[in-house]
Amino acid sequence: MASSCERGAAERPLPFHVEEVPEDEVKRLQDLGFEGYPQLVRTKPNLAYFRPPYARLASAFYNFAFRPDDVLVLTYPKSGTNWTSELVWALRNPDALHRAECAAASERFFFIDMDILRPGRAAEDDPTYQRFVATCPEGRVEDGVQLQLASAHKGPRVIKTHLRFDLLRQDLLDTCKVVYTVRNPKDTCVSYFHHCSNNIRSTFKGDFSNFAEAFMTNGINYGSYWDHVRQAWQRKGHRNLHIMFYEDLKADIHGELRKLANFLQLDRDDDQLKTVAEHASFEQMKSRHERLSVNHMIRNFFRKGQVGDWKNAASEELNNKMDDWIRKNCRDIDVSFNYE
Ligand code: PPS
Repeated sequence: MASSCERGAAERPLPFHVEEVPEDEVKRLQDLGFEGYPQLVRTKPNLAYFRPPYARLASAFYNFAFRPDDVLVLTYPKSGTNWTSELVWALRNPDALHRAECAAASERFFFIDMDILRPGRAAEDDPTYQRFVATCPEGRVEDGVQLQLASAHKGPRVIKTHLRFDLLRQDLLDTCKVVYTVRNPKDTCVSYFHHCSNNIRSTFKGDFSNFAEAFMTNGINYGSYWDHVRQAWQRKGHRNLHIMFYEDLKADIHGELRKLANFLQLDRDDDQLKTVAEHASFEQMKSRHERLSVNHMIRNFFRKGQVGDWKNAASEELNNKMDDWIRKNCRDIDVSFNYE
């Protein structure tokens, strides 16, 4: 790998294994509607499922060298990752918001998981690939385009990932600030269902009840919702961890921005917070995304942006089942959600 794109100095061995998902489990998921799953890998213990490139990159993720001036946005998928990233970026750059009008989110934050989700983005006309070639001339695509681009970036970084805490270096919170956004599990599940169904590669062909079954039995990308949330809750109170709820952002964006700015040690006045909130509103983000993003892999990515959409998706029977599943899993976590 090129020297400007190097990993952390001391490569630590992985404290977990990555194995192929057994055929009968892949078959179960295919039967539920994940027709595009010919092959998957998973971590062990604490199963989290991934597309195969994760096996090659697990160590690079685990050893990724975070820096003190990084802000890491860490979330379970569909919990408000992009919204949170935009808020963090805008709070940090109040005088440069105009940049977002011409630089897509992918040029302003590093979504390192892209190296697992879309490793094949090496097309000559792909702007990210072009940036990679220009920035890391000796870099190899198979070592992770986003990982190397992020490593090569000199200034403060906003990095986003859905990788759980145990899949990242264990001194993460002693190194940089982490913003963890959590969304109620029912709306997360609905949003994830649409994400998978609206993927242009059409990886999910089942209905919502099939998807919810896979979600509640941890058979989807990134694994268990509860393992993810539990790991954040175990670290609650750490000075470098700020936890936000998607529903609170919806209910009181100004108040949440005030807390977030304090956590980031940024002195912002009320007018600045108002500007940031507008800049990161659903409508503005959607409109910029539609104008600037190339390669729309997910149709209708900015879908509804609401709390309580689960009511339109889940039957009474499925909702009762989800309530049981939530009750069971909340026994050992002191967390409560707003569902509307
Ligand atoms: S991803 O693919 O995992 O990174 O998706 P993520 O960004 O975590 O979550 C996508 C959902 O967040 C909604 N969203 C927003 N809601 C409110 N305000 C703003 N600004 C905003 N930006 C994104 C997005 O619409 C997805 O939710 P659903 O329920 O599917 O609409």
